[in-house]
Amino acid sequence: MSTRSLQHLPTPDIRRLNPSRIGPAGADVVLKTLDLRPAPVIGVATGSSPSPLYDALAGSGRDFTGVTWFALDEYVGLPPGHPQSYAEVLRREIIEPLGLDPRCVHVPDPHGENLQDAGTEYEGRIADAGGIDLQILGIGRNGHLAFNEPGAALDSRTRVETLTEDTRRANQRFFDSLDEVPTHCLTQGLGTILEARHLLLIARGEDKAEALARALTGPVTPDCPASVLQLHGNVTVLADDAAAALLA
Ligand code: GLP
Repeated sequence: MSTRSLQHLPTPDIRRLNPSRIGPAGADVVLKTLDLRPAPVIGVATGSSPSPLYDALAGSGRDFTGVTWFALDEYVGLPPGHPQSYAEVLRREIIEPLGLDPRCVHVPDPHGENLQDAGTEYEGRIADAGGIDLQILGIGRNGHLAFNEPGAALDSRTRVETLTEDTRRANQRFFDSLDEVPTHCLTQGLGTILEARHLLLIARGEDKAEALARALTGPVTPDCPASVLQLHGNVTVLADDAAAALLA
């Protein structure tokens, strides 16, 4: 991409917040989306970043009937029902607390024979729902978005991806040992994510500061997958002071 075209990249709406405000502010963005759309479709991230948002949604008293939800990614290699599979994480974090119908919450299927078909099938489900209105995102310390690791093509689609050692170590905290952390996953691609109509990135804590600064102010490059946010015209970033420390 030329320097000239970079000068015309859209500017994300970056909100630097007290940590206690991240959840309510994120829930506010979700609830506004639900108010605007007749059959809203929300993309949900797992990981620790969006947890306060889900807590705030659960406390909102809102009826989520008629909302469709799509997970960003799922581990490959865990048995069905494993507590750290993202299907189970989403059951604990959103299905039960928000009183959702599990049939309205879609997760890529990592248990079929042909995982590439599972990616294509998932893309079909998103398209059949009319596309994603609001995609909630976290960011990895290495700049990953969903499980799109450094090197992922900027136009990639839902597919099998190999997890980097850095990501496996970062996620080890959810498992008893590093050996138990899967080596592969199914993830929405960067191209898939860019098709959502609104992106909501949540970054909390100082260990995200460098990745967030690279994503928002560095070059748009596969080396930092989250830099694709700069290519999207409707991005909201909610960052606490520690995560925003390296932003101007
Ligand atoms: C995980 C997930 C991502 C998440 C990111 C950050 O591995 N696959 O969807 O956004 O890494 O996680 P956390 O919010 O726990 O820091």
